[in-house]
Amino acid sequence: MRSAWGSQREACTNGSCAGIVLDGQLGEQLVNMVYVNVQSGSNREPFEPDLDALRFALDLVVDPPDTNPSALDELPLAMPERGIGPQAALELVAQIALPQSSSLLDPMAASRMATPTPWLTWAAAVWSASRSENLLHKADTPQVNELQDRVIGWLSPLWGMATGHFVPGGTIANLTALWAARDGSGATRIVTSEASSVSVSKVARVLGMPLIFIDSNPDESMNMDALIDFARRDPDGMSRTAVVLTAGTQNTGAIDPLRDAMKGLSNLGLRPAWWHVDASWAGPLALSDRRRPLLKGIDGADSVTISAHKMMFQPTESAVVLFKDAARSDSVLEFAGPDETTQVGLLGSRADRSLALTLLLLAYGEDGLAAWVDSGIDAMMALAEALRQRPDVDVFNSPVSGVLLWRSTTHSTDDVLAGLGRKVAGLGIADGRRWVRQVGSNPLMDVDELVVRISGVLDALNSNQQTSTRQ
Ligand SMILES: Cc1ncc(COP(=O)(O)O)c(C=O)c1O
Repeated sequence: MRSAWGSQREACTNGSCAGIVLDGQLGEQLVNMVYVNVQSGSNREPFEPDLDALRFALDLVVDPPDTNPSALDELPLAMPERGIGPQAALELVAQIALPQSSSLLDPMAASRMATPTPWLTWAAAVWSASRSENLLHKADTPQVNELQDRVIGWLSPLWGMATGHFVPGGTIANLTALWAARDGSGATRIVTSEASSVSVSKVARVLGMPLIFIDSNPDESMNMDALIDFARRDPDGMSRTAVVLTAGTQNTGAIDPLRDAMKGLSNLGLRPAWWHVDASWAGPLALSDRRRPLLKGIDGADSVTISAHKMMFQPTESAVVLFKDAARSDSVLEFAGPDETTQVGLLGSRADRSLALTLLLLAYGEDGLAAWVDSGIDAMMALAEALRQRPDVDVFNSPVSGVLLWRSTTHSTDDVLAGLGRKVAGLGIADGRRWVRQVGSNPLMDVDELVVRISGVLDALNSNQQTSTRQ
C-alpha cells in the first residue's frame, strides 16, 4: 500500500503550497490557509455528506483491507499538524480497525461473548453520529427520548421490570443498580457469589460498600446452602444487604438458582434490602420460549442488568439497567439539571443507544432475536455432545447459556488453544484447572466445521506425540 501520509504531505511544505512561495511567519500562515482550502474546499466540505466517500467507507467494511501490522507505523507519533484528507485517512485507519481477521462474522468465531452485529445496527451507528443527539436534554430531543422509553417498555416485561435506561455496558448498569440499592433501600453491604463478575467488586469499591462472597458450586452457580447459612447466622443484617445474583457467569455461563435463593430467604422470613440480578450474559434467554424457564424467579428482583452488546446483538457499549419500582429508582437516580431539565442515572451527555436495538426488534421481532440466541446455544450443546464422544476429552459443563468448558486429557490446554487459534477458543479457569472455553453467541456458527477443526487439532497433537514417543 502506498504511504498515504507521505504522499499527501508533500503537497504542502514549509513556505510553499499549491505553487505559492512565501517567506516568514505571515507566509506560513497564508500557506496554511491555502492548504486548508486546497485540501477541503471550505469548512463546509467535511460537514456536507459526500455519498461517494461514505460508500467508500462502507466498501471498506464489506471488503476490508488485509491485516497490515506496519499500518500503525505510518501513523504520526505526534498530533498531525495538517490533514491527509478523508480518503487517505480512511485507507490508513481501515488497515488497523477493519482487518478481516478481527471480524466476528465468521462461522468459526466461538471464543467471545461478543456477537457479530447485524448490518442494520451499523446503519444506526451512522445515523447516531450524523445527528449526535444528546439524550441529556429531554426538551431538545423529545422524540429520541420517547423512542428510548418505548424500547425500555418493550424490554422490561421480559424480566418483570417496569422502567430503566440504556448505559454503555454491564459494569455501569451494575453500578447504577447498586447505587439505587444503597440510596433507595438502605443497603450498606453487598453479598454475592465468589463467581460473580469482577464488575461487582469494582462497584462495591466505588460505592464504598463492603463485599461478602458466598461459596459457589463446582459449576460456579451460587451455593444455596451457603447463602441460607449466611442469612441464618445474621438475620438482622439481611435488611441492610443487597444480594447480587448472577444469571450467566463470565467463566462458565452458570445461572444462580434465582427462585430458590429468593424462596430460601423468604422461607426464613427474611428479605434482603435489595435483590439485583446481573443477567449481563444470560438475560436474553428470556427471549426464547425454550430457555426462559432457566431465568425463573428473575421477576422477583428489584433491578436487573442486561448487556445488549452480548446476546442482543448490539455493537459494543450497549446495556440496560432495569428496575422494578420506578418511583424508588427515580428517587435516587433523578437529578434536576439546569433549565428545568431532569437527568437520570450516572451519565451526563449520552448518545441514543436504543436506536440500533429499535431497528433490530422492529425488523426481525422478538422471535428473530430468540432464534439467534437459540441457534448459538444449540450449537454449543451439539459441540458438547460431539466432544463427549471422544475418549481423550473431558467436558466440564453443560453449556446451558452457551458457554462450554472442555479439555484434552492427553495434551495441555495451552497446546490445544495454540492449535485452535484465538478466534475459535479462549481460556477458562475452573476447578483449579485450565480449560478450553468456547461461547455460543454466534448465529453464523457452523458447528460441524467447528467439530472438524477441533478433531483435526486434537488428532494432530495425538499423532505428533506418537511420533515423538516412537523416536
Ligand atoms: C456477568 C457479567 N457481568 C458484568 C460484566 C461487565 O460488563 P461490561 O464489560 O459490559 O461492562 C460482564 C462482562 O463480561 C459479565 O459477564
